[in-house]
Amino acid sequence: MKDTLDKLSTPTIALHWLVGVVIVFMIPVAIYMADYEVFFLYPIHKSIGVTLFVFIIARVVWRVINGWPKPVSEYQKWEQILAKIVHWVLIVGTVLLPISGMTMSGAGGYGIPWFGLELMAMNVDPNDVTVVLPINELAAEIGHEIHHLLAIVMSVSILLHIAGALKHHFIDKDKTLQRMVGKSV
Ligand code: HEM
Ligand code: HEM
Repeated sequence: MKDTLDKLSTPTIALHWLVGVVIVFMIPVAIYMADYEVFFLYPIHKSIGVTLFVFIIARVVWRVINGWPKPVSEYQKWEQILAKIVHWVLIVGTVLLPISGMTMSGAGGYGIPWFGLELMAMNVDPNDVTVVLPINELAAEIGHEIHHLLAIVMSVSILLHIAGALKHHFIDKDKTLQRMVGKSV
């Protein structure tokens, strides 16, 4: 069931690609959504983010149980250190993105919808329901700043990570990528 040097386990592979692919699509769409204030996308963004959070937590639990996959062969020291740092940034970043998003939306009073259901209702002014009242302005502000900062940090880390995966495959010609798509190497 656990990862071995020759073969990664189904949870490692399934959770990597599920979380990874959704995030790769989510980030550019969310930047577009926030920059152009495309309001119909907000509840969809939040619903997908909250759902993904469940799988992100499952992935972290699996990392703790299983440990990190070992490199398929010996590399330069700097390469191993860079890969390790990027993997940590990616895994911690995936946890903090939905947490900061939920903090921003929840504390900001905007609520947290989930595909038509309400995980947390909007906090509107009883005298004028078009006015949203923050529940905790400071928490909402901190959540917003962290979410925005993570969008940048994660984008850079993901580009580095994909470049690393392609380098392994096409330049080093090793089995790193093949192992992550489920092949025994
Ligand atoms: C879509 C392009 C991607 C490719 C081609 C790719 C490829 C890979 C490969 C080949 C490995 C195995 C590295 C090793 O054996 O040491 C790996 C591991 C990893 N990747 Fe990706 N990845 C992609 C996207 C992502 C994204 C978007 C994230 C995070 C949001 C991510 C997070 C991780 C992490 C944390 C690991 C360490 C092992 C694990 O926890 O699953 N990857 N990736
Ligand atoms: C893994 C999950 C998530 C990812 C990858 C993600 C990613 C992003 C990104 C890249 C942005 C654009 C940031 C910017 O340009 O400043 C954004 C904006 C936003 N996200 Fe998320 N997010 C996730 C989860 C959530 C969750 C769970 C919520 C709330 C429940 C949320 C609420 C928001 C809101 C309200 C904005 C717009 C902020 C604005 O208008 O300035 N996000 N998200």
